[in-house]
Amino acid sequence: MNKRIIAAAVSLILLAGCAGGTKDTAVTTNTVNTVQDAQVSETEAAAPETETAETEAAEGDASAETSLSDSDAPYIYEDFTSDTAIMGRGPATAEIVDDDKASDGKALYISGRTDAWNGAQYDSEIFRGNEIEVSGSFRSGNSNVKVTIQFDILGNTTYNPIFAVKTNEDSYSKGSGKFKVPDNAENILVYIESDNTGDIYTDDISVKVVGEYKKFDKPAGLAYVDTSDYPSLKELYSEQFLIGTCINPKVIATPEYSELVKAQFSSVTCENDMKPESLLDRTESISDLDKYQESPAINFDRARDELDFARDNGIKLRAHTLVWHSQTPDWLFYKDYDTSGELADRELMLKRMENYIKSVMEWTNENYPGLIYAWDVVNEAIDDGGGIRKSLWYETIGDDYIYKAFEFARKYAPADAKLFYNDYNSYMLKKQSDILEYIRPVAEAGNIDGIGMQSHLNTDVSLSLYFIAMKRYYEELGLEIQVTELDIGRKGQDNWRDVQGEYYRDYMKRLIEAKNEGIPVTCVTVWGLSDGMSWRANELPLLFDADLSRKPAFDGMAEAAE
Ligand code: G3I
Repeated sequence: MNKRIIAAAVSLILLAGCAGGTKDTAVTTNTVNTVQDAQVSETEAAAPETETAETEAAEGDASAETSLSDSDAPYIYEDFTSDTAIMGRGPATAEIVDDDKASDGKALYISGRTDAWNGAQYDSEIFRGNEIEVSGSFRSGNSNVKVTIQFDILGNTTYNPIFAVKTNEDSYSKGSGKFKVPDNAENILVYIESDNTGDIYTDDISVKVVGEYKKFDKPAGLAYVDTSDYPSLKELYSEQFLIGTCINPKVIATPEYSELVKAQFSSVTCENDMKPESLLDRTESISDLDKYQESPAINFDRARDELDFARDNGIKLRAHTLVWHSQTPDWLFYKDYDTSGELADRELMLKRMENYIKSVMEWTNENYPGLIYAWDVVNEAIDDGGGIRKSLWYETIGDDYIYKAFEFARKYAPADAKLFYNDYNSYMLKKQSDILEYIRPVAEAGNIDGIGMQSHLNTDVSLSLYFIAMKRYYEELGLEIQVTELDIGRKGQDNWRDVQGEYYRDYMKRLIEAKNEGIPVTCVTVWGLSDGMSWRANELPLLFDADLSRKPAFDGMAEAAE
């Protein structure tokens, strides 16, 4: 068998999913270069949490925990020289192929990906409650490959990045990252995906436990707490800003979540279901190229329930997002929507961009008039290394694609909808300067209304630095500001809940001060409802625990308004 598994007590579970013998060579992973996710590496706050501190939200039933010696820890290594238990994800297939660029001449070839989340996955139930270190090597025409962990807490599925690697087709790039799997997680899968949909060659995958291995049985079901007597943030802040959260299908379909949203928030953003990947319809687009070549077909089925929820409950909606490098299928950028052919030229891509923006805005305006008050027109266009990100939008159109996107958005947006540029790490100096450089001409043309500061922070981020940046956007561009994706990760202190609560309180106080000084801050959106649903679940960055208990973070936010 092409995997080495050191796991006396647990090997049977793993072997149930595998076939073949055991490779003899010992494997070490400590020489692997760490190439963090472009976003994760820059966002100090979003760096995968490496501390193993116990957390209340992540604590399971202690009786379900069995301590084993280090030698019992499961250790998975795949070099693909024979069989593999890594399976295709979604419609993608994962098969072992000859590859002379791979370490042993063999690689896992992942193809047939039609959405960015398609790839290959590994059942990782065995790692519940443990911190794991995952590493792997990849080559791909996609500009990056991501390794993500998925699990359910209280029936809600959450997707958390472990690491990402910048890739090219010619040689393998290595990466690794750590993640503490919550002990109340179920249906745990580690998987390989990418921002785009090209094929991926994979080699030398390993998953090992950091520290002592503890075996956790399936968690006993958590129960939601009663949230009905919590003070209402939207009421406390009604004079200052809209208070928002992001929603997904599970949130609106689960009364405990949806009631909390209705009680607490005056704005919602669809977490994933208004992104290009969710709206673009390839089957329809290729069914009639004469009709769709310049105007890709769209389909709102994924977003409809969330839009209904917002409209029916009188909650305003931020639309996220029109033009982005991620969660945008590659086929959009090719002639005839055929990724085996040539990239579309500038003229065709400008038409597609204009028509996509037009179709999405016209459809929402016709079906949900007045619901959307803000659009993230362009998202994350600045590269972490500086300058414009070399995305497929950039490659096909050139570096005025940001300008053009706003020009089209202004042309088709209803007069009362505000247009935003949205980015993470927007408080950092270099990113700030790049954003200002690219957005200044857009502002001068009158085609943008605001800057979205995503604000994936942690309790170490300097609030002074952050608020200087906010002031600068306002003073230099004359634009409105929205905080669009706030979450504040903990650091490893024992009293992290209180530290996080104080940070939320101080942050909101500074925001109120900024508003009082004349900076037009109009909305503060928190990126997720509970720590069990966050994309940074092991950093526990939100206002409510997984069972919806209010955290000091919530109290801090409420206190700042009083
Ligand atoms: O893998 C699932 C698949 O099983 C499922 O059937 C399918 C349909 O729902 O979705 C799949 O994809 C996952 C997706 O979330 C859920 O729609 C992806 O694997 C996963 O990577 C994706 O993560 C999202 C991430 O954006 C993608 O970049 C997070 O939920 C979302 O919170 C996050 O949000 C972004 C903002 O849009 C932009 N700023 C950064 C922020 C955090 O990354």
